[in-house]
Amino acid sequence: MSDATTADPSAASTADGGAGRPYSPGLEGVIAGETALGNVDGERGRLTYRGYRIGDLVERGTYSAVANLLWTGDWDPAYRLATGPVPEAVMATLRALPRDAKPMDALRTAVSAWGATRDLPWPPTVDQARALTAFSPSALAAFARLRAGREPVEPNPSLDLVEGFLYQLNGSRPDAGTARALDAYFIVGAEHGFNASTFAARVVTSTRSDIASAVAGAIGTMKGPLHGGAPSEVVDQLSQVGSPERAEEWLLGALDRGERLMGFGHRVYRAYDPRAAALRKVAEAMDNRPDWLELAIAVEDVALRVLAERHPERALKTNVEYYAAPVLQGVGLTPDLFPAAFSLSRHAGWTAHVLEQAASNRLIRPDVNYVGPAERDLPD
Ligand SMILES: CC(C)(COP(=O)(O)OP(=O)(O)OC[C@H]1O[C@@H](n2cnc3c(N)ncnc32)[C@H](O)[C@@H]1OP(=O)(O)O)[C@@H](O)C(=O)NCCC(=O)NCCS
Repeated sequence: MSDATTADPSAASTADGGAGRPYSPGLEGVIAGETALGNVDGERGRLTYRGYRIGDLVERGTYSAVANLLWTGDWDPAYRLATGPVPEAVMATLRALPRDAKPMDALRTAVSAWGATRDLPWPPTVDQARALTAFSPSALAAFARLRAGREPVEPNPSLDLVEGFLYQLNGSRPDAGTARALDAYFIVGAEHGFNASTFAARVVTSTRSDIASAVAGAIGTMKGPLHGGAPSEVVDQLSQVGSPERAEEWLLGALDRGERLMGFGHRVYRAYDPRAAALRKVAEAMDNRPDWLELAIAVEDVALRVLAERHPERALKTNVEYYAAPVLQGVGLTPDLFPAAFSLSRHAGWTAHVLEQAASNRLIRPDVNYVGPAERDLPD
């Protein structure tokens, strides 16, 4: 046990617990590990996976190839990964869930049940990462069908992962543009440094627990609205704005009421989120783009101007959620599936971080400042 965990309680109210060490609420600004996977450069608005720019990966890659890149470090644009089977025990579990269960709860439960059906020895392997990443889209598609009173669709091994997911969700193959648009969304969602869910996955892995436990924990972490986000709120706001002519008045009114403009601002990015730039291009190229995309583009210009005027001290730019909304709606997902789709996309990053953590593992166990009562006697 370290000295810090037995620190003199009389010093407990000092900012550093008396140990002379800095304390940062939320670990903001703390370097809590090393990674060779994703690099988020918030100042310059750059995101790379293993050094490759996100915009290039979206233009020239597929989600499966990107997942393989994250797991192995090798860039093979021809790499394919089909969706995987849902074991009987998992399907029975999904059938037992209430129809109005949240998709994130269903996905977390499915991953947990999947882990109970197999041997997942330490250390985690690329094969385990592949199997879990392939399983989850089938599980979510199955739940989405079951809750609508329809039977699940078996995986089609000839389809690549994202196309296969849409096939199992809808019971028919998507057109190429739709599959490509969701694939692009999955690529931009695949990895983003030490965000809360990825960190949670690494903490679980650091105890030498298994990959399914790590990903179940990550899904639970992403379920929180501060992380999983809500592109559906972008849709709500745009419908309230109504028309480009009303944009300035509505946006100023919202700021006056102390509301935040959805799809703008970011904890790390001070420049335009490169994922938003990539998804805007994808949304504009979609045949099935929602009819409010034009409105979104017009409102974005006004919002950036208004935010710059109101917050000259802080760069508030467009974030990924703004253009995730039209892409997800355009491919036909209902808004309550948006967070779970985000989780499916992040499987590549989570599992790559699990592998990276295991490869040079050190139990993650920080210290804490004790701020409770000083040592005392129980009352008589
Ligand atoms: C993403 C977000 C939580 C990041 O927050 P952050 O970097 O910690 O920024 P802060 O919360 O410290 O905000 C700093 C200032 O900018 C303002 N601000 C930040 N984002 C804003 C937004 N989207 N609209 C209006 N004002 C915003 C805050 O009100 C605050 O102003 P104040 O100091 O006068 O109170 C925040 O920008 C936000 O709530 N955005 C809207 C929701 C969203 O799009 N989420 C998806 C993120 S990918």
